[in-house]
Amino acid sequence: MDQVNASALPEFVLLGLAQSFGTQIFFGLFFSLFYVGILFGNLFIVFIVIVDSHLHFPMYILLANLSLIDLGLSSTTIPRTISDLFTGCKVISFHSCMTQMFFIHVMGGVEMVLLIAMAYDRYIAICKPLHYLMIMNPKKCIILVIAAWVIGMIHAVSQFLFVVNLPFCGPYNVGSFYCDFPRVIKLACMDTYKLEFVVSANSGFISMCTFFFLITSYIFILASVRQHSSTDLSKAFVTLSAHITVVVLFFIPCMFLYVWPFPTKSLDNFFAIVDFVLTPVLNPTIYTLRNKDMRLAIRRLSRQVLSSREFI
Ligand SMILES: *[C@@H]1O[C@H](CO)[C@@H](O)[C@H](O)[C@H]1NC(C)=O
Repeated sequence: MDQVNASALPEFVLLGLAQSFGTQIFFGLFFSLFYVGILFGNLFIVFIVIVDSHLHFPMYILLANLSLIDLGLSSTTIPRTISDLFTGCKVISFHSCMTQMFFIHVMGGVEMVLLIAMAYDRYIAICKPLHYLMIMNPKKCIILVIAAWVIGMIHAVSQFLFVVNLPFCGPYNVGSFYCDFPRVIKLACMDTYKLEFVVSANSGFISMCTFFFLITSYIFILASVRQHSSTDLSKAFVTLSAHITVVVLFFIPCMFLYVWPFPTKSLDNFFAIVDFVLTPVLNPTIYTLRNKDMRLAIRRLSRQVLSSREFI
């Protein structure tokens, strides 16, 4: 009985990124190259934060968590897209499509809360420096990370429950190179207007509010740095501008994908590529190149590697 039901489930068609064989191979290589960069860059951050005791501070522990989530977020779509591009396959099973949507929103939700946690950490470090170690203790850090996962799961489950039992009867073309709620809901054979609104409200409204909240907090932190001292200003500015860049890069595509009422295929693809490919590769770059502690840690690590080689 289960088998009959399973075979009756629809299969969705993913619109390829490219029509011609040449552009397909081009995108395939482009994605592969970036995915390798995402893999190594983010795992390198996790590795260096774990091995270097100078980086055992909330800011870097949260950053390592963010790197893992970045890797997770792009892993929800990019490996599949790469294999689709090289094989020319455009069909995705119902289960894979649902799984992909679910994990995109788990990872996206966790990432959002982690970005808020990182802003909170910078707020305490800059505006309440004397109480920093007391407020941002290891226990608080663990609570923030657990809260990020719980909120991410609640967000994903709450969206998922709306979609999983929708009736589908064709057409099955998702109109994008991956499955996501707004595009899949449109394919249900019923009046989906209200559902689309719920999803836009859930994903879009949350990302819009979080974005404005974060930008306002960073402006507030910068303003209070200026009042305190001028020597810390440049250092704080470097750190904060890295955070702001990451926030803008992550949220602008989110807001566009969920709130913008007139989606067009090419802009959709562009913003999805920014969120799944560019942001995860830029995060490690921005944080390692622009952060002095990170650069020092890399230098320490390379010195250790070099000196251990001499004994071999
Ligand atoms: C993520 O955060 C938790 C809680 O603070 C920490 O124990 C863990 O080591 C972090 N993960 C990484 C990869 O650093």
